Amino acid sequence: MMYVESTWNQISEELKKGNFKRVYVMGNTDCGKTTLCQYLIRELSKEKTSALIDCDPGQSTLGLPTTLNAALFYPEDEKPAKIISRFIGDTSPHRKLMQALLSVHRLLDKVNEECEAVVIDSSGYSSGNSAAEFQAAMIELIQPDAVVLIEREQELEPFASQIECFKNITIRRILVSEHVKARSMPMRKEYREEKYRDYFKEAKLQVVDISPMSLCGSVPVRFTVQSVRGRLIAFCDHEKFLIKLAVARSLYENDKICVCLVPEFDSKEAAFLQFGDLFLTNDFKEEHPLRAQ
Ligand SMILES: Nc1ncnc2c1ncn2[C@@H]1O[C@H](COP(=O)(O)OP(=O)(O)OP(=O)(O)O)[C@@H](O)[C@H]1O
Ligand SMILES: [Mg+2]
Repeated sequence: MMYVESTWNQISEELKKGNFKRVYVMGNTDCGKTTLCQYLIRELSKEKTSALIDCDPGQSTLGLPTTLNAALFYPEDEKPAKIISRFIGDTSPHRKLMQALLSVHRLLDKVNEECEAVVIDSSGYSSGNSAAEFQAAMIELIQPDAVVLIEREQELEPFASQIECFKNITIRRILVSEHVKARSMPMRKEYREEKYRDYFKEAKLQVVDISPMSLCGSVPVRFTVQSVRGRLIAFCDHEKFLIKLAVARSLYENDKICVCLVPEFDSKEAAFLQFGDLFLTNDFKEEHPLRAQ
């Protein structure tokens, strides 16, 4: 059950009044970012067409692991009217900084056309120099009216002092709820693997004609058993939004066909075949053979 902290209401009121149109929620791992965002979007979508952007490719709530997602809500509807996805090819933004930033940019662009306010949930990638640089770039890209920093002590002070230098960004610093439950790495991995199992349970091995598609992402130099079998790949539309995620079996460059495990879809809609860096075993356990080399 969600315990609504007293500090949350003020933020949702600002969103409802239109004082905030874009709110970015930041904090370290397990500090209640996603729960706060769910509360904000629930309140906001009672009155306004609004969107939630989920920037976490690991513990994704809107979509599959390795993807970043946006959900569009119309007033009164409990469920999102639609969810759009971008494949980044890995479960952590730190290995895919460029794809993560680009994807958030594209998702924002898409929902902007339709909605009055956006709540953006960050991944927990926020400690260390690279993370700080990444989050700073994310803030510049998003250009939020408000950034919510969820802290245990004052650990986000470096971000606060940076954000203060931007004009027109309001900072709200709130404390981590005592109701937050930390999740271990094995729990997080199990969460992802459960999502893969569920997604691929109706999937069949299919031979897909890839001749009209452009290959992109982490395209292997050669299509060998080692570089292809088990690799997560994505069929994407003309704007590189995800149509279907698949697990590759083999790819024949000359014949322009890809054999893969994929749920039913119309391959004619796909313009891009994007390669990820993650591999799945036959029982949908994650493997990172490229990094192990
Ligand atoms: N206010 C709350 N009331 C009840 N449960 C909460 C509350 N805040 C967080 N939790 C629980 O704590 C856990 C972690 O919260 P949440 O997923 O929101 O954190 P997070 O910061 O988004 O984590 P991550 O770093 O993985 O993205 C979840 O199981 C969530 O249900
Ligand atoms: Mg989260």
